[in-house]
Parts: sequence; structure tokens; C-alpha cells
Amino acid sequence: MPSVPTTLNVQQRASLREHNSFGLPAQARTLVRIGSEAELRRVVDHPEYGVAPKLVLGGGSNLVLTRDVDAVVLKIEIRGRRLLREDPEAWIVEAGAGENWHELVAWTLEQGWPGLENLALIPGSVGATPVQNIGAYGVELKDRFESLDAIDLVTGRTVQLDAAACRFGYRDSVFKQHLAGKSVITRVRLRLPKPWQPVLGYLDLERRMAETGVTQPDARTVFDWICAIRRAKLPDPKRIGNAGSFFKNPVVTPEQCRDIIGRDPEIVHYPMPDGSIKLAAGWLIDACGWKGKSIGRAGVYERQALVLVNRGGASGAEVVTLARAIQESVYGRFGIRLEPEPIIV
Ligand code: EPU
Repeated sequence: MPSVPTTLNVQQRASLREHNSFGLPAQARTLVRIGSEAELRRVVDHPEYGVAPKLVLGGGSNLVLTRDVDAVVLKIEIRGRRLLREDPEAWIVEAGAGENWHELVAWTLEQGWPGLENLALIPGSVGATPVQNIGAYGVELKDRFESLDAIDLVTGRTVQLDAAACRFGYRDSVFKQHLAGKSVITRVRLRLPKPWQPVLGYLDLERRMAETGVTQPDARTVFDWICAIRRAKLPDPKRIGNAGSFFKNPVVTPEQCRDIIGRDPEIVHYPMPDGSIKLAAGWLIDACGWKGKSIGRAGVYERQALVLVNRGGASGAEVVTLARAIQESVYGRFGIRLEPEPIIV
């Protein structure tokens, strides 16, 4: 039997400005705050919301809102974190989708369970991390992933997905593909392997080691380094609205790369295990002269050209106009199409 709507935490005509890290203005016709799996099932059973299209909001840190939202917006606030089990190989930690990701990283380190330190300070909620398989400084979520629970928005059933079922790719998963809008992540379980090994093969971290003379840092030190590196080049979304990297780093064939190197020898590129070459999108945008530039109130961050920012009062349309202009100039000069990383609504 459908439950009584008043038992759900529903807001009509709710501002979404506080719910997206870009700080873009948009209104949700209906915003439902979800504090538990049971509440989510109530939405599925609801005579009106059950059949309506849905937009799932985690921390809103990977989203560009260009208009008001007619779909029922589900703000996932499921809390809780615990050590699920420990075995000789790993600690298995479980967290509710509504927990803040960075606080979870800091908490696991305080408990003496290292492994997430390279993923410190990534904005957003725990439930959003598998959607785009977050990654930074040589570690991706998939490297520390055990499984997750998701609720099917049609049947209300909970399913458990392992890494293979999530189909993780570079900033990609099944939740950006055929499960988009169909299923809501409610809990995530992480596998933190023993013994712990630092992941240090990244230029910025090698620089820190050289500067400090610390060649065998503990997890806390790596955490502190990552926080310092990120603070130096990425804007804090609490102060300057942004959604992290705005474009994915494009992957090209060795032939394409050779052609570009012929014209621009200093292009930053990384060979991939499958023989393809990943190019630094930030470098491509920078090379086209965009760093620090603006269109209207949307701008390109001064210290990292891959990050678009809200200079104050920008609309989603301005952000998209800027993004298109960048795509056109990068295509014009390099023949490469940049693909946005955030979801554009
Ligand atoms: N570069 C420039 N100019 C710029 C920006 C970058 O020349 O304005 C050059 C840098 O000098 C460097 C290279 O491009 O040689 C790569 O830059 P960086 O190390 O800052 O990393 P990125 O490739 O721009 C990626 C992720 C980040 C992640 C960092 C660290 C993507 C789309 N972005 O950025 O992830 O934190 O590596 O691992 O893969 C995010 O996804 O939101 C995000 C911030």
C-alpha cells in the first residue's frame, strides 16, 4: 500500500543553489530528502513520485544545472559508517551514500585503516564516488572498491553490485550509462588492503618527496601532501563555485599523438597500458589561451585551466557557453573533441 506522502521529507519549489557545488541557480519542482532505504522505497511506492522521472543528487559536485528541474529530485542523505569486517588481507569499511567523502577518508585514517589518502579532498558524497569512478594521484575508486547497494527505482528492490557489475572506466560506470536515473546507490563498501603500500608515482608527490626528503611517508603524510597539492591548484567550492575538472582527459591513438607532438612538442601526454595515449586536457585548454578568461560570469580558473568556475552569479547557460567555446577552440587547434565530465541537466 502506498505510504502517506507526509511521512516523506518533501519540499516544493526548492532552490537547488545550495545543492550544487557550482552554486548555479535552479529550482526543483519537488525535492525529497532521503534519509534511509525505507524512505526511498516509499518514493518508489508513491502514487505520483513513483512514476515520475527522477534526478538523484549526492553532493551535487559533478553537476551543471542549466534550467529548473521538473523531475523529482532525490537528495540522498543516508548516513552511517562502520568497519564491516577485517580479515588478514583487508579492512572492509561500509558507508551510507549521504556521508561526505572527504570526512570518510579522514575518519578511516584516524581509525588506522589507510588506503584512501590519495583520494582526499575530492568534493561530494560517498554515493557519488562510484558514479564517475573518482580518481586522483594514481588511485581510482575502483582500486579500493568492494561492493555497493543500490535500490531499483522501478521495483524498489535492493541489489548488491560488485566492481565488475559497476563496469568502472575512466570517470565512468554503469550509473552514467544504462542505470542512469534508474537506480540509486545507498551504501558503498570499500576494501582497504593490508599491508598498506603508498601510491607515490605521481609527479606532484615525487616533488613533495624531493622537497621534504621524506621518501617513505606514512598514510597521514600522504594525506597531508594531497590536501596541500589540491588546495594549491584547485578552488574550494565553498568559496568559488566549480565542479572539479570540467572535461575528461582525452585518449588518442599513438598516430594522432605523434601528429600533435610534431606541431606542439611540449604537449603533456601519458602512455596508457593498452597502447593509447592520454592527453592533459588542462594543457590543451591552457595552450589555447583560456586560463583566467571569462565569458559572462563563468570563467576558467587561473591556476588550473581544466576547472571552470562561477565568478559570482553565473547561470548554467553561461557555463555551457564557455565550455562550448573552449571545445571549439581546442578542436580548431588540435582536432580533439573534449568531453565534459560533469552531468549537464
Ligand atoms: N596543465 C597545464 N595547464 C593547466 C592545467 C594543467 O599545462 O592549466 C598540465 C600540468 O602542468 C600537468 C598536466 O597538465 O602537466 C596535468 O595536470 P594535473 O596534474 O593538474 O592533472 P589533470 O590531468 O589536469 C587529473 C584529474 C583530476 C585529478 C588530477 C590528479 C581528470 C579529468 N582530472 O587532472 O581530477 O585530481 O588528475 O590526479 O582526470 C576531477 O576529476 O574533478 C579532478 C580534479
